[in-house]
Amino acid sequence: MITLDGLTKVFPAPDGGDPVVALDGIDLHVEPGRIHGIVGRSGAGKSTLIRCLTGLEKPTRGRVEVGGTDIASLEGAALRAARRNIGMVFQHANLLDSRTAAQNIGHPLEIAGASRAQREQRVAELVELVGLQGRERNHPAQLSGGQIQRVGIARGLAAEPKVLLCDEPTSALDPSTTRQILRLIRDLRERLGITVVIITHEMSVVREICDDVTLLENGRITQSGSLLEVAADPHGPLSAELIPLPPVPTGIDATVINCDYGDSETLRTSEDLVRLAEQHAAEATIVAGTIETIGGRQVGRVQLALRPIGAEAASGIGREQLAQLLGELEDRGVVAREVVA
Ligand SMILES: Nc1ncnc2c1ncn2[C@@H]1O[C@H](COP(=O)(O)OP(=O)(O)O)[C@@H](O)[C@H]1O
Ligand SMILES: [Mg+2]
Repeated sequence: MITLDGLTKVFPAPDGGDPVVALDGIDLHVEPGRIHGIVGRSGAGKSTLIRCLTGLEKPTRGRVEVGGTDIASLEGAALRAARRNIGMVFQHANLLDSRTAAQNIGHPLEIAGASRAQREQRVAELVELVGLQGRERNHPAQLSGGQIQRVGIARGLAAEPKVLLCDEPTSALDPSTTRQILRLIRDLRERLGITVVIITHEMSVVREICDDVTLLENGRITQSGSLLEVAADPHGPLSAELIPLPPVPTGIDATVINCDYGDSETLRTSEDLVRLAEQHAAEATIVAGTIETIGGRQVGRVQLALRPIGAEAASGIGREQLAQLLGELEDRGVVAREVVA
């Protein structure tokens, strides 16, 4: 549905200094009906990427294809027509205060020249779609933050786009409203079959609704894949953010190791790790951990406290024993290291 091919955007420096390379050779493909998250620090190039997708910004080099149309090559009326296939949702819906929820939702249809009857019918469908029944006549000042964002989403969907681009759609909302809005976006994908690109700095958003995720750093893609792939890759930059490490424990008389077992073929659960440690004559106890089940597969990090089997007094295991265990874990695809408090 969306293909970026070598997308590069260079801005001239305002004061005659070095030009700014905001996007540097981005290759990305988003299949129809997927929810694709784009994450990255401030300045990484996320907004520039979305502006290129909507044709607001012309690439310096590369192709931007949305629904089979080369957006970057279009001008004027053809670009406006192509843009109707792309809905936008922003952090702040920026509704017109003097208009009701229904009038705000119908605004893009009014601009596009739809008749009053067409507009009323479509607005009624959209109100139902985003769950705003009974609030149609409210003005923005009479709506909650979540309801305002529902109006923003309905407005973005007014022209029946195939693609919905969301730039930080929940960053201004509290956690429970965030969850409701994310659930709505997921429902809309199911009901309408639309493709969604969601820009966010919140890992909880990625965990909750994204099928795929791409990390942008300094205008380049540093990791991209399905949520399971990136969460389960202990060497990748996103897994630690998606599945945070437990804090270093205090007051334990034992050898403590951290294990990231996400992409191991043979060690798939925390119980497997405990069993392996026991084969190395160590008694293992899980003292902390973060485990997620993504796509039916466990990914996670756990912290194991290791003691010699049958030891009278509390103590850690021997250096040689530890080196052997860490070596075997590494061979089996688990990233393991000793934690020194
Ligand atoms: N119109 C512009 N002119 C010059 N530099 C820009 C312009 N827009 C963005 N930039 C620069 O491009 C880089 C990426 O910006 P942006 O896409 O807004 O990042 P993000 O949305 O990830 O925070 C930044 O260094 C920013 O300063
Ligand atoms: Mg931005």
